[in-house]
Amino acid sequence: MRKKLLLGNWKMNKTPSEAKAFALAANEMVDYAVAHDIEVGVAPTFVCLATVKENINPKCIVSAQNVNEHASGAYTGEISIGMLKEVGIDWVILGHSERREYNGETSEACNLKIKALLAANMTPVYCCGESLETFEKGETKAWVAEQIKAGLAGLSTEEARKVVIAYEPIWAIGTGKSATKEIAEDTIGYIRGVLRELFAEAAEDMRILYGGSVKPANVTEYMSQPDIDGALVGGASLEPDSFKALIEGMIK
Ligand code: PGA
Repeated sequence: MRKKLLLGNWKMNKTPSEAKAFALAANEMVDYAVAHDIEVGVAPTFVCLATVKENINPKCIVSAQNVNEHASGAYTGEISIGMLKEVGIDWVILGHSERREYNGETSEACNLKIKALLAANMTPVYCCGESLETFEKGETKAWVAEQIKAGLAGLSTEEARKVVIAYEPIWAIGTGKSATKEIAEDTIGYIRGVLRELFAEAAEDMRILYGGSVKPANVTEYMSQPDIDGALVGGASLEPDSFKALIEGMIK
């Protein structure tokens, strides 16, 4: 049985004091989610990770939004796995479409990071998803299959089990234009099939999230789909009230 997961991707939002205020406000709702068998987490910016980790309910996952695969050295502007670990972070989002678009992050680069994270016993959340153009051409499945195969290349079945996948159609991110639950389920079910090809029965244990304009008003319908194991939420995860409403929507 795959446990449902709600992960808030804060992107480049919140100063440390704002992030701390969220962390303090979120304590009860994290308990509420956990009591209903739902895992919850937030992914603040690097400068807010330590503050959030220190002030949020310890049952809440705190995730970074990127990491460098090297242990240390001449990589200006980068953050290592060891640095994250020292502030108690053991989850990292990788391959988000915004990082692919603005920072040139490729599936192959994500593959190196995923392997480094798994070697450090950390949890990668690997994102995939197609552009509007690819969607309209009907090439979504081939596109995401390629991203999944390149990103997870060379992983053992046991390693794959620890990876969380997020399917986020780019045309649905921050646009208010969410994919219907049928479209999301169709692609996510297909992704599970690709994972089955690669990792056999481990695919049944791997969690696949939907992301892209998830809101309290539509989260329940995604959760009713058999292959959708949770949500990666940007805009609607930023305010405690909305985050709480997302949790409530997941429980319904
Ligand atoms: P959104 O972002 O919920 O604001 O559409 C989702 C994401 O990019 O992870």
